[in-house]
Amino acid sequence: MTDRYAVIGNPIEHSKSPLIHQRFAELTGEDIAYTRLLGSIDDFGGDVRRFLAAGGKGLNVTVPFKEQACALADELSPRAEMAGAVNTLIVGERGLRGDNTDGIGLVRDLRDNHGFDFSARRVLLLGAGGAARGVLQPLLDTGPGHLVIANRTASKAESLAARVNSTRVSARGLDELEGERFDLIINATAAGLTGALPDIPDTLLAKDGWSYDMMYASEPTAFVRWGRARGASRALDGLGMLVEQAAESFYLWRGVRPPTGPVIAMLKE
Ligand code: ATR
Repeated sequence: MTDRYAVIGNPIEHSKSPLIHQRFAELTGEDIAYTRLLGSIDDFGGDVRRFLAAGGKGLNVTVPFKEQACALADELSPRAEMAGAVNTLIVGERGLRGDNTDGIGLVRDLRDNHGFDFSARRVLLLGAGGAARGVLQPLLDTGPGHLVIANRTASKAESLAARVNSTRVSARGLDELEGERFDLIINATAAGLTGALPDIPDTLLAKDGWSYDMMYASEPTAFVRWGRARGASRALDGLGMLVEQAAESFYLWRGVRPPTGPVIAMLKE
């Protein structure tokens, strides 16, 4: 029997996850069906339970339910616990397991797909909300020289930095970045949702520095355009991260690693 999976969110109609996972299934010969599920804002738990009762084997979770999914899971992976958010639910022997593949998705895209070498590099993470929290520990695990978390509200950057308690991490407000230089600037703010940019100095990129927008759109995002205009040697969007986080979810469910290159290429077309 075909195993059933879905992505649950609200809104959900524009999600590319069904396309990505169906392609993974074709490429690996796995027999799965993967659909979109519009979650109800006031009954996310009920929606999940009904999907699982009908034989569903796992779910991807997206905005605005990642924190609720974290609370719903019977057990959490260490990286989901650290993120305080779950983007992958897995039906297991000990109940419903929650995991988070966003951070490893970002790292695999930057390091493995694009060849960014984190060692001794200065990295700037913009934002201190759920998106930033989800990628912080996996970013630190790559061994950068230093990681600065900068947020419009400085106190939130400080609280986030305190979660990891590392001498390689510091925090500040966006208005305290003047004069600094970074080899990689990652945009994890929600500014792009309204086509806006975080208010940062024009001079933040080091020579040969890269910019990365965790968001993805069919047109270059505001932050990709920011990077290009400031001479970034690479100005990337979040398409590769989207496919890589999906691949890690697929692996958690099926025990098989799908190839991601052909799927990224397909989505670029
Ligand atoms: P998410 O889960 O997407 O991270 P969130 O938890 O609401 O969403 O956090 C949104 C993040 O984007 C925050 O870091 C927010 O900054 P504040 O903490 O100061 O609110 C940041 N953000 C949103 N709009 C922004 C803008 N126009 N400029 C800069 N930062 C912005």
